[in-house]
Amino acid sequence: MLSSIILAAGKGTRMRSVLPKVLQPLGGQPLLHHVIHTAQSLALRQTIIVAGFGLEAVQDACVGLNVSWAVQAQQLGTGHAVAQAVDQLLDEETALILYGDVPLIQAGTLARLVDLVDDAHPLALLTVHLPDPTGYGRIVRDASGNMQRIVEQKDATPSERSIGEVNTGIMAVKGKQLRAWLARLENNNSQGEYYLTDIIAMAVSDGFMVRSAEATSEMEVLGVNDKAQLAGLERMYQQEKVNALLKAGVTVLDPARCDIRGRVEAGMDVSIDVNVILSGKVVLGNNVMIGAGCVLTNVTLGDGVTLLPYSVLEDCVIGADSRVGPFARVRPGTVTQDHAHIGNFVELKNAQLGSGAKVNHLSYVGDATIGAKVNIGAGTITCNYDGVNKHRTVIGEGAFIGSNSALVAPVSIGAGATIGAGSVVTKDAPEDKLTLARAKQMTLESWQRPVKK
Ligand code: UD1
Ligand code: CA
Repeated sequence: MLSSIILAAGKGTRMRSVLPKVLQPLGGQPLLHHVIHTAQSLALRQTIIVAGFGLEAVQDACVGLNVSWAVQAQQLGTGHAVAQAVDQLLDEETALILYGDVPLIQAGTLARLVDLVDDAHPLALLTVHLPDPTGYGRIVRDASGNMQRIVEQKDATPSERSIGEVNTGIMAVKGKQLRAWLARLENNNSQGEYYLTDIIAMAVSDGFMVRSAEATSEMEVLGVNDKAQLAGLERMYQQEKVNALLKAGVTVLDPARCDIRGRVEAGMDVSIDVNVILSGKVVLGNNVMIGAGCVLTNVTLGDGVTLLPYSVLEDCVIGADSRVGPFARVRPGTVTQDHAHIGNFVELKNAQLGSGAKVNHLSYVGDATIGAKVNIGAGTITCNYDGVNKHRTVIGEGAFIGSNSALVAPVSIGAGATIGAGSVVTKDAPEDKLTLARAKQMTLESWQRPVKK
């Protein structure tokens, strides 16, 4: 059986932020969420988060996730942090200790580590060889290569500091032994902290051989302490995300200029131009083209959809072979059928567009049901808000709305109706008729333009 303890009590002073460090975003998600998701991909009995600084904010950010909590009110060291959680462990299970600020750890690496633990080997440690080990705890081994202890940078002798194998902090330990060893920890070291790392020497003195696994890359064990490291990890993370898209056959014109802050599913022959941001869940059909500078959040695009540059879409579904943009804004609740055209400087909100409907220029269409093949002229506005309530506009199939019309909701335009340009429509307009709601044009025959004397 396996449980995980994730240390997340630190403030992260060097972030210089009111947001606790583990809630800083990487790829659009809190650092801590990455760790929780990876941990939970190994069948866990429970996930215990040790939190302290910004406890409420950290707990709020984890609503809906299957985790339990241990509170570390004062940060007295990594050993003290884990000690807050050990009451929740079973004797016979393995505890996998992870860090809320080491977000890119790989599930496969953790599985390899956990596999090293058995009754004869109750402790296994994840290590990594670094060209520059400064700052890390060093792994001290005996002549036959058996791990003896970990020495922290601040407590190390010059010869110990030359050791290139370091402690990642990540370890797997049997519950029973972990509890016993933590109870024996002391804080007589240069930092006056209870070091989790001291349990290595305890295991050795209890006659156990401490096994170790090596991380597959430095990236997966990198911790985040400041904004520069966060930015560095963000780039690595983005590179991996884009590489996965490229591998799946998506054309990404510049892999360094496409950011993915969520999950993307893409069909065949999808093409993404530069400076595109894809957030949340994005589903792209076959032959989708996304122009430069588009920002998509929770969007589904049907086959053959073209997004022209600088369009911003959120929580919407665009039907097959539709064309959107340039400079379109499609807001939540919008669903279009196939062959819709949404042109420049058009804003749609909670609008349903039928097959082949067109809103080509400079319009606001909100809380509206637009039938198939409707044509909405330039500058048309649905006046959906009376200052208190939102009202719907319904436009029947094949209607033609003249330019610069204001449709004052609630209002219905019948199928096949034509609305004269510049109308302010406050009452329902009948099917198949021309409706005008504007001042009649007149010419004053006797009028004379004044002239300068
Ligand atoms: C620790 C290890 C070191 C290792 C390094 C890897 C110890 C004593 N040292 O050092 O061997 O090479 O990690 O990055 O374990 N935390 C708490 N409560 C505390 C103290 C820490 O939750 O009381 C959390 C921190 O928020 C952080 C993590 O534990 O996420 C590591 O703590 P930190 O103080 O950064 O340890 P290091 O000195 O880096
Ligand atoms: Ca650290």
